[in-house]
Amino acid sequence: ADIDVAGLRDLAERLAVTAGALVRDGRPAKVEVAATKSTGTDPVTEMDRASEDLLRRILAEERPDDAILGEEGDDVAGTSGLTWVVDPIDGTVNYLYGVAGWAVSVAVVAGPPDPAEWTILAGAVHSVPDNRTWSAGLGEGATRDGLPIRVSRPAALGECLVGTGFGYDADRRASQAAVLTHVLPQVRDIRRLGSAAIDLCLLAQGSIDLYYERGLNPWDMAAGALVAAEAGAVVTGLRGRAATGEMLVAGGAEFVAPLVKILEASNADQG
Ligand code: IPD
Repeated sequence: ADIDVAGLRDLAERLAVTAGALVRDGRPAKVEVAATKSTGTDPVTEMDRASEDLLRRILAEERPDDAILGEEGDDVAGTSGLTWVVDPIDGTVNYLYGVAGWAVSVAVVAGPPDPAEWTILAGAVHSVPDNRTWSAGLGEGATRDGLPIRVSRPAALGECLVGTGFGYDADRRASQAAVLTHVLPQVRDIRRLGSAAIDLCLLAQGSIDLYYERGLNPWDMAAGALVAAEAGAVVTGLRGRAATGEMLVAGGAEFVAPLVKILEASNADQG
């Protein structure tokens, strides 16, 4: 059957905005860390869980045949071949500290279990503190609050503002810091804003020029990667591979290539 990309995109937007309102209205004056995940610096709050529960409840009702892959819960199997990939709060550390830069990210993908082979059909990122919503449908372009967006066209690598991020593992962070010593001298500057989903949307609207990160989870990047690609970005991995958790690099074609070279030369996908 034909896939209704526009309908999936509408639902992705509605899910992200609905869960975003729950998280905004439920944010206590002091957010407590309910648990830590991969390492002691990787927090989960009660609101991460409440947001994901809400997303799962709506999906169970409206898309009972689809699978669900979320940051905070068990995977739900489906029969339709479509999987919803949800991050109930991307930028949890910002949320914890009351700093802007956190979002609900919802994507729907087709394809096998391996994220490297997914076709991302639709995605929405709702940045809650500033009430902005980016979305894209495959082949439909990307928008922010309904208006079309495009990536920037910088004149030189040295004029590129580059977003990146770090995982929660201390050893990994040491090698990510080493990679920065190769990148930073060659670009305008670096931004570490704290939400991969928002970083990819800022790239899509031309507010940053390039973005790279190692170690992203599928829910951090699926929606934002489609928004960026539909806004004209190349979204790729290193050494000819697709963008995955191993490495994601995104930006206008001209300066993705030299950034990929720097990252390959500094073995940014290893260690
Ligand atoms: C994190 C954010 C951050 C990125 C980390 C992610 P979370 O997601 O996207 O910007 O650097 O790699 O884990 O934990 O806030 O959902």
